[in-house]
Amino acid sequence: MKALVSFGARHARIITWGTLGLVWAGLVLSSTSTTVDAHKAKTSPFSYNVDIFPLLRDNCGRCHADGGPAPMSLMTYDKDGGAIAWAESMREMLLIGAMPPWYADPTGPAVRNNHSLSPRELDKIITWATGGTPHGDLNIKLPAVSARTGWAGGKPDLELPMPQPYTLGPGVMQASNEVSIPTNFTDAKWVKAADLLPGVASAVRRAYISVDGGPMLQIWEPGDDAVEPPSGAAFKVPAGAKLKLKVDYKKSWQDEQKAVSDKSVIGLYFTDEPLSGKSIEPVAIDGPTDAPGSPRSFSGTLTKAGRVVALRAMLDGPYASVEVTAVAASGRRVPLLKLHNARPEWPRRYWLVDPVELPANTKIEVTMQPGDPDVGPLGKAETFPLQISLDVVPQ
Ligand code: HEC
Repeated sequence: MKALVSFGARHARIITWGTLGLVWAGLVLSSTSTTVDAHKAKTSPFSYNVDIFPLLRDNCGRCHADGGPAPMSLMTYDKDGGAIAWAESMREMLLIGAMPPWYADPTGPAVRNNHSLSPRELDKIITWATGGTPHGDLNIKLPAVSARTGWAGGKPDLELPMPQPYTLGPGVMQASNEVSIPTNFTDAKWVKAADLLPGVASAVRRAYISVDGGPMLQIWEPGDDAVEPPSGAAFKVPAGAKLKLKVDYKKSWQDEQKAVSDKSVIGLYFTDEPLSGKSIEPVAIDGPTDAPGSPRSFSGTLTKAGRVVALRAMLDGPYASVEVTAVAASGRRVPLLKLHNARPEWPRRYWLVDPVELPANTKIEVTMQPGDPDVGPLGKAETFPLQISLDVVPQ
């Protein structure tokens, strides 16, 4: 169990970060005089059974449920710890935007598959966490919630299992495994979405599904739904192609001394060839490799004209802000992506609500301000070589 964090110290830091300041300042200030304490007066008008459980189920339940990838369930009030044991930690994670792990900044370009909480929802959970965590009407029987075990998008057109199971032995907490899986396609196929059904959902932290020598089909995250590209866009998988599946595993501490054997399955959803006949292509911009965690500014060039439909960010540390901007020859600047308080552990793909058409030779600028490495659900961040990728449908 985590020690309770004194609010005063945290408060000072939250204010200085400022990224979320305007939105959250009201919340922070209105609760500065309180610390979370099991014996605190129940001042919250919101209770677990009535108000908080539905919010946690809908926004946290895909991970914080029995069998899910997060180390604890928040789907009970106090059973096995339950939500009340994590109230202080929840408040802290919500205020810094570390949970739910979703980093798109609401002031930046709109992205699909949004997983952020509204200010109203946030306010409810924080008021509950700091206001004595009331249980609420005990006549309300809450349903048991467990992590999803089937395909989110229904049965795929093709299922490709890992050829062999991969085992993390006792004592091994974290590992990565990459396999190559032949598709045996006799003709090219067009894929609108790729998904993963984890063998052991509590241990599969993320997965990369790509065409060997071709596009990244999916960066899979626990509980996420596979997103379809906007109409007219799809990934081409040539005849005879192999898929690369890289799975990053992380056991929860409960399983530390057990052997965990995973055999995940890739699911592919096909579509017709788009009218353009062109596949979504990755355009990668590598960042500097020195001095991780320092302010970053680097750029790349889009050599062919195309429509940017999504962006991905692999980070070499936590960043308070990440901004990706297209700069046309005329000097016109178009924002493509804006992230705040981003942690490298969740290198997801952000699908743009409004794809952006760019001419050939557009400069892509990336600027990043470092975040606080000691803040977040994991003390030390995992790191990856810094890379920003655009997913582009060429013209
Ligand atoms: C996509 C999966 C996912 C979602 C959604 C999610 N979490 Fe988490 N959460 C995790 C994982 C995994 C951890 C364990 C830390 C880590 O490995 O990043 C965690 C850790 C935490 C912690 C513990 C932090 C600590 O002190 O170590 C809290 C509290 C938390 N989450 C609250 C929430 C709340 C509240 C929500 C919903 C508003 C939420 N999480 C949504 C995956 C998720």
